[in-house]
Amino acid sequence: MSGQPIAVIGASGQVARALQRAGAERAANLVVAGRPVIDLTRNASVAAFLDGIEPSIVINAAAYTAVDKAETEEAEAFRINRDGPHYLAKWCAAHAVPLLHISTDYVFDGCSRTPYSERDACHPLSAYGRSKAAGEDAVRDALSEHIIVRTAWVYSADGNNFLKTMLRLGAERDVIRVVADQYGTPTSADDIASALIDIAGRVLANRASAPWGTYHLVADGHTTWHGFAREIFAAAEVEGYNTPRVDAIPTADYPTPARRPQFGVLDTTEIRRAFGIALPPWQEGVAACVRRLTHHVQCAHQG
Ligand SMILES: NC(=O)c1ccc[n+]([C@@H]2O[C@H](COP(=O)([O-])OP(=O)(O)OC[C@H]3O[C@@H](n4cnc5c(N)ncnc54)[C@H](OP(=O)(O)O)[C@@H]3O)[C@@H](O)[C@H]2O)c1
Repeated sequence: MSGQPIAVIGASGQVARALQRAGAERAANLVVAGRPVIDLTRNASVAAFLDGIEPSIVINAAAYTAVDKAETEEAEAFRINRDGPHYLAKWCAAHAVPLLHISTDYVFDGCSRTPYSERDACHPLSAYGRSKAAGEDAVRDALSEHIIVRTAWVYSADGNNFLKTMLRLGAERDVIRVVADQYGTPTSADDIASALIDIAGRVLANRASAPWGTYHLVADGHTTWHGFAREIFAAAEVEGYNTPRVDAIPTADYPTPARRPQFGVLDTTEIRRAFGIALPPWQEGVAACVRRLTHHVQCAHQG
């Protein structure tokens, strides 16, 4: 990679923090920033930050990710998820710098019964999904040298996510009821980060022949939220924890402000073909994350 840094936007987020870990492990030159250093909703803030560090490539790991809250804050979601990527892509186009941008399976309506390919039409069901689809279009319109990576059901030992919520509820309750008719792929932020660093290295090494475009990046396989929860508790049990019973319920019994795709499974053939990237089975990342979290708890109790 060149001597210029990789700019990572979104310092405290799950993927941004995983990027910091992956970057440190591989001695990559990363400059990571989030609010208040860079505010994606302000063009001047984006330009000032990027002008200051002159990156070789930009990775946008920042987003408005509160899926249910976005139903009542759609304008704010669009400011962050559409206008932010637009400002980034405009700056990148003006300075001939590539942009790696992260998007979501929620751009699809989930009516398919086969995994979504990158060529399938977007039809988001929620304000969050609409704002992310608009962000993708903003990047494509402003900058040809982009890679958009759609991922799903992201979890890590940091931040708020389904895995951590399950462990917390599991410590409080004997029975947990979890939706069993929505399908997707739990994907570790660490695996996403590692793949993004690989992609950055690849496109910087050979920009002229880089396979710019949109790709699906999720762990191997798929499950339901109920299957995800059961796997989390199976992993916690291995670590010696008491675990609750996990009952399967339909979406209708767990109404949420935002509609989610019923089938959000993404086909990852293209990213394997273009970049040789294939993430491990989703169960492996879950076990690793649960080990990390339960080990932290044990250390804290001992300390
Ligand atoms: N989480 C999922 O399940 C999931 C699923 C599919 C795709 N994705 C996508 O994956 C990417 C990373 O998600 P994540 O789970 O790592 O997100 P996250 O943990 O919610 O972090 C999002 C980050 O964005 C920052 N941010 C929000 N508004 C900003 C602004 N105006 N300017 C600068 N930074 C701002 C937040 O900063 P503050 O700390 O200041 O709020 C936060 O650090 C996003 O593009 C998301 O849409 C996530």
